[in-house]
Amino acid sequence: MATKRVGNLPADYANNGFYGQDILSVNQFDKGKLDYIFRVAHEMRVLVERFGSADLLQGKILANLFYEPSTRTSSSFMASMLRLGGQVIPINNVQYSSVTKGESLPDTIRTLESYADVIVLRHPEVGAAATAARYAQKPLINAGDGVGEHPTQALLDLFTIVEDLGKVDTLKIAMVGDLKYGRTVHSLTKLLVNYDVEFVFVSPDILAMPDDVLEVVRERGHKFRVTQDVHEVIGDVDVLYVTRVQKERFSDMAQYDRVRDQYVVDEALMAKAKREMIVMHPLPRVNEISYAVDEDPRAAYFRQMRNGMYIRMALLAAVLGKA
Ligand code: CP
Repeated sequence: MATKRVGNLPADYANNGFYGQDILSVNQFDKGKLDYIFRVAHEMRVLVERFGSADLLQGKILANLFYEPSTRTSSSFMASMLRLGGQVIPINNVQYSSVTKGESLPDTIRTLESYADVIVLRHPEVGAAATAARYAQKPLINAGDGVGEHPTQALLDLFTIVEDLGKVDTLKIAMVGDLKYGRTVHSLTKLLVNYDVEFVFVSPDILAMPDDVLEVVRERGHKFRVTQDVHEVIGDVDVLYVTRVQKERFSDMAQYDRVRDQYVVDEALMAKAKREMIVMHPLPRVNEISYAVDEDPRAAYFRQMRNGMYIRMALLAAVLGKA
């Protein structure tokens, strides 16, 4: 991938493999790059806990362009830039931008990169981030493209496993719920195949993990199991990664109603789980994790959400040559 323009080469530039790069897919990350980003993210965590902010990205501007709703991804990218001393052009409501007048994605990208040093894009169409990156002279980060990928979420998910459990190898990881439309589980699975893990995919038939993702798991020689019954596997897993059934992706609402509450993680289910396991969720949740579980120390989803900021601080610093 060609290195893009990020201004004059910084004095402390290090060839970290990310400088001037787009972040479009988890396929860009091997174990070395994952270790690097997790080390920087850990440092960002220490920095925020000790000092709150730094001036690493002073003078840099992020264009935060969201064509789909977001709370965490959007605000954590903004917080990341602000905590590193940079500034943000926030476009969370494209209906108030020239997109409403019919401006194309390439023209919107060309406009924003005239003002900013890095662009974050969330878009409802699979492949939109890759398309936008072809037109962008500045680094572009995929913040979710339809049912395709959500690479920064997968990075923060994996970082949470590392920080909470201290390892990834030998873990048994169950993914539960909407494995068809949930882009986070597609991306996370493709990252996890870099490690010695076993998978369990728990979903209704109509929301099964897509074949192309299962093929990656097979190709990399991982054991996996497919089931509809979370009770069968709960006592045996180290990570229970729960997802929301994505109502917005259904065209038949009767079908949505049939599967929406099939899995609910509650205190009774948690009583059957290992003492050392963690429950994760990319959030937002609807009904799939009961509020009573929030008090359980194994509930990792709020830590996971906070880790999103450290990972995004690391990525912004890395692509701008300051990590
Ligand atoms: N996990 C996640 O992507 O959340 P948001 O949709 O709120 O950004």
